[in-house]
Amino acid sequence: MRTEERLAATWRRATLELVAFEPTHEEVVRFSPTLAEYYNEPHNRSMMANTVAMTADEVVEHFDLLRRSGGRCFLLESGGELLGDADFRHLGVTSAEFAILVGRRSAQGKGLGLGFATLLHALAFRELGLETVFVAIIPANVASQRLFAKLGYVPDDSPAARAFAEEESDLTFSLCRAAFEARHAEAVAEMKWATR
Ligand SMILES: CC(C)(COP(=O)(O)OP(=O)(O)OC[C@H]1O[C@@H](n2cnc3c(N)ncnc32)[C@H](O)[C@@H]1OP(=O)(O)O)[C@@H](O)C(=O)NCCC(=O)NCCS
Repeated sequence: MRTEERLAATWRRATLELVAFEPTHEEVVRFSPTLAEYYNEPHNRSMMANTVAMTADEVVEHFDLLRRSGGRCFLLESGGELLGDADFRHLGVTSAEFAILVGRRSAQGKGLGLGFATLLHALAFRELGLETVFVAIIPANVASQRLFAKLGYVPDDSPAARAFAEEESDLTFSLCRAAFEARHAEAVAEMKWATR
């Protein structure tokens, strides 16, 4: 697993270029007011089951905490605009939990979440040595369920998957590297990788 470098990935699709990168601390600080706005938007907050609003400083702390515990955090950009963030957390030797946010409501439902999630899973399976990625979703989060089904996730009620459920009612899914690569080979061939 590559731990010392900050990773970045790009996927140019028709006129749209999706960029995901591991930010420096300074970049997190710079973007934290926008991220706080995205996290605190009422729909996003309920879909992510966030019980408390976050200040920009708390967003910076959240990134610091995730990274100190081995998590890999990414900012998501297109056309020079910060669109959201995503991370792989609770990293085991070959597994992790995934989370993603496309922040502005007006940017949601346009294929960006699926595009960024495809890019980041390609990166994780290729660069982070992961074999399995898990997600836990509240039943009301239909967009996430559709997005993860399209990525190739399947329902998983094993103890390893249920460990990520915060509520009994949460739905848990997993995706293994072989299934992802078989399904998205063409897309992965269009992506570019870099370190920063
Ligand atoms: C979930 C999220 C990342 C999806 O990204 P997105 O850019 O909005 O979704 P996409 O446009 O890529 O669409 C993915 C699928 O979700 C569906 N979808 C998107 N928004 C939807 C909505 N509001 N209701 C129902 N389905 C929706 C799309 O139709 C598509 O499925 P389809 O192709 O089978 O029709 C984004 O909506 C988001 O950040 N939501 C708030 C935070 C959140 O829920 N994070 C995930 C926590 S696990």
